[in-house]
Amino acid sequence: MARSKVSVIGAGNVGATCAHWLASREIADVVLIDVIEGAAKGKALDLFEAAPVMKFDVNIKGGGPNDYDLTADSDVVVITAGVPRKKDPVTGQFPSRDDLVKTNQKIVGEVTREVAKRSPNSILIIVSNPLDAMCHVALNESGFPSHRVIGQAGALDTARYKAFLAMELGVSVRDIHGIVLGGHGDEMVPLPRHTSVAGIPVRELIAEDRLQSIIERTRKGGGEIVGLIGVSAWYAPSAGTVEMVEAIIRDQKRIIPSAVLLKGEYGYDGLYIGVPAMLGKGGVEKVIEMQLNDEEKAMLGVSAKAVQSVVGVLGY
Ligand code: NAI
Ligand code: 2OP
Repeated sequence: MARSKVSVIGAGNVGATCAHWLASREIADVVLIDVIEGAAKGKALDLFEAAPVMKFDVNIKGGGPNDYDLTADSDVVVITAGVPRKKDPVTGQFPSRDDLVKTNQKIVGEVTREVAKRSPNSILIIVSNPLDAMCHVALNESGFPSHRVIGQAGALDTARYKAFLAMELGVSVRDIHGIVLGGHGDEMVPLPRHTSVAGIPVRELIAEDRLQSIIERTRKGGGEIVGLIGVSAWYAPSAGTVEMVEAIIRDQKRIIPSAVLLKGEYGYDGLYIGVPAMLGKGGVEKVIEMQLNDEEKAMLGVSAKAVQSVVGVLGY
C-alpha cells in the first residue's frame, strides 16, 4: 500500500514542529514548503538526518515557492504560512489575531491555490490566523467541498483548558475530559458543564471562582505565550494539528473540536466556527450538535459575532 503523504506549507515554528511530529510518529511522508527556500529545505534535511537515530522511517522533503510540485497528490495539506503575532519592537504592542487578517488572506489565498491544483482530492487543515476567517479563504480559493477544509483551533484551545485543569487539580492530564467551542479568539467558549475528571463533574472538584479563572486563562492562552516568548506558541498548536492529521490519515473517527463550515447546525449558516466534529478519511465526517443551555448558546453567539466581523473584512 502506498504511504500517505502530508504537505505542510510554512516551515516556521508551527509548520516545522508539525513536520517533526508527523515524521517521528510515522504518520506519513512529509513535504515542507516555505517562501524562504532554504528554511524549508534545511529543516526537512535536518529532520531526515535525525531519522537514523530516532528510527522513524518516512520520506521528508523540503522546497521553496517554485517547488509546489513536491506536494502533488498529498492526502492532507496543513497550511501554517503566514505572519504570526509578534511584539512590535518599537511600540512593544502585540497586534490582535484579527489585525493579521489582510496580510494572511493574501498568503493563505496564494498557498491554497498552489496546493489545491496539485492535490485536488486532499483535505486542507488550516492553522494560519485569524483562524476561522482563514478557513473561509481556503474554502473560497480551493473550491473544495467544506468537509475537506477544516481549521485547527479547538484542539489547541481544549488542550490548554485541560492542561490548566490538570495543573490546578494536580491530576494526570489523561483524566481530564472537556471541550472548548467557538471561534479562535478571546470569546471562545470552554464548557464546564461538559467537563469531567475521570467522569466526575469538574464542579464537584473545583471552586467556581477557580474554574472561572481557568476559563479566562484558556481564552487568553495564546496571548499568555506571546507575552512570555515574544512570538506565538508552536508546541501545543502543532500537537493539536497533528492530532487532526492523524485522525484523518488513520481514519480514526476521532471527535475533535474543529473549525468547520456550519450549515444550520447550532443556528449558524455559512460560518466557520469551532464545534465537535468526527474526523476520518473523508475529512469532517459528521458535525456533532450538542444540547447547549441558554447561557452557553449566548456565549457561542458572542464568539460567532466576533468571527463574523473578521470574515466580513475578507470581502467575499
Ligand atoms: P512563523 O513566522 O514561525 O512561520 C510562518 C512561516 O510562513 C514562515 O516561515 C514564513 O516564511 C512562511 N510564509 C510566509 N508567507 C509564505 C508564503 N506565501 N508561502 C509559504 N510560506 C510562507 O509563524 P508560526 O508561529 O509558525 O505561525 C504560523 C501561523 O499560524 C500564524 O498565522 C499564526 O498566527 C498561526 N497560529 C495559529 C494557531 C492556531 O491554533 N490556529 C496557533 C499558533 C499559530
Ligand atoms: C495561539 O492561540 C496565536 O493562535 C495562536 O497560540
